[in-house]
Amino acid sequence: MLAWRRLTYVVFLCACLGTIECEDDTKDDYGSSWLMLVDEAFNRHVLNFSDLPSRGMRFGKPDFYLYTRNNRDDPEVLFIPKDDNCLKSVYFNGSNDIRVITHGWMSDYQVGWVQSIKDSLLRHYDLNVMTVDWSHLAKNPLYPWSALSAKFVGKQIAKLLDSCTKTYGVGRDRMYLIGHSLGAQAMGYAGRFLDGDVHRITGLDPARPLFELPLLPIEFRLDKSDAHYVDIIHTCAGLFGYEDSYGHADFYPNEGTTDQPGCPAKRELLDSCSHGRAAIYFEESIEYPSGNGFMAYRCDSWKKFKRGLCKENKTTMGYHSSSDSRGDFYLRTNSAPPYAI
Ligand SMILES: *[C@@H]1O[C@H](CO)[C@@H](O)[C@H](O)[C@H]1NC(C)=O
Ligand SMILES: *[C@@H]1O[C@H](CO)[C@@H](O)[C@H](O)[C@H]1NC(C)=O
Ligand SMILES: *[C@@H]1O[C@H](CO)[C@@H](O)[C@H](O)[C@H]1NC(C)=O
Repeated sequence: MLAWRRLTYVVFLCACLGTIECEDDTKDDYGSSWLMLVDEAFNRHVLNFSDLPSRGMRFGKPDFYLYTRNNRDDPEVLFIPKDDNCLKSVYFNGSNDIRVITHGWMSDYQVGWVQSIKDSLLRHYDLNVMTVDWSHLAKNPLYPWSALSAKFVGKQIAKLLDSCTKTYGVGRDRMYLIGHSLGAQAMGYAGRFLDGDVHRITGLDPARPLFELPLLPIEFRLDKSDAHYVDIIHTCAGLFGYEDSYGHADFYPNEGTTDQPGCPAKRELLDSCSHGRAAIYFEESIEYPSGNGFMAYRCDSWKKFKRGLCKENKTTMGYHSSSDSRGDFYLRTNSAPPYAI
């Protein structure tokens, strides 16, 4: 147990300092059988899973589930094709765009908001909605372990999406990735592995520890170079979520920090209420196709916004956010559904 703790600490330290690009991590077994770590002296180490005690540690590749209007409640499991083969799917429809959704730390694809976003999207649009379940890696109480896995998960997502292009001709400009917390970081990696060419990534309160604190270079965390349009919704800024602005557009509902309306202090500790709000606001935003919900105003600061100094440039937050939005945007929400004012 002691050795295990020590290892955790080392992994943690290394993760903090893991800021050097490793050429080899493009190999197939990266993340599933080994990881590259960098120590304080910037020496590289290979953490080989076969050298580790297997007890208490869970590995596994992410699982992919496809939902369409023809199978809303009955997901089809997708597998990344081996070698150069085609993606095999019964339900995938090459005429329709792709949305990919994924969860964060200690969570899985069956979490309520992932399912609600999927349901809501299919109610309004004919799409290929994929959910990514990386709970084998995310449900590890050792946060650094899950954080280190984000890159591997992103890589797998990129591979699956590449096979969609190859098999069905769906271009990267028709792919839109949505992730919460560590899932947002995984989507950042996916976007990077797809050369920053995907249409859009929405980061729902992207994870801060080991990404912004300490601050890693942009190739190791979600930022605007990962897609043509990156929008970020901050709801627990400076604690679990990104504090600063790294997207093309950054939205700060209720200042973007903890104590989101309707999140009492007790719930913040119990279920990180504010951190989860980003996903809940986003889910609700799908219901406002006319673009009237969650109107946000471009402003230099919350202070100025509060004083009513920013009324000039507005855009909507969430699913219908316009991809030419640029800058920091502020807004208020209600404390219970409907959250949009
Ligand atoms: C990890 O260890 C196994 C078994 O000792 C070995 O076969 C494999 O090549 C090692 N992987 C790396 C990346 O060093
Ligand atoms: C595929 O999508 C197109 C356009 O949304 C639709 O017209 C067509 O019926 C779909 N095909 C199947 C097999 O559902
Ligand atoms: C609104 O947009 C205009 C034109 O881009 C710009 O000059 C102005 O400073 C913006 N106002 C705010 C409050 O950002």
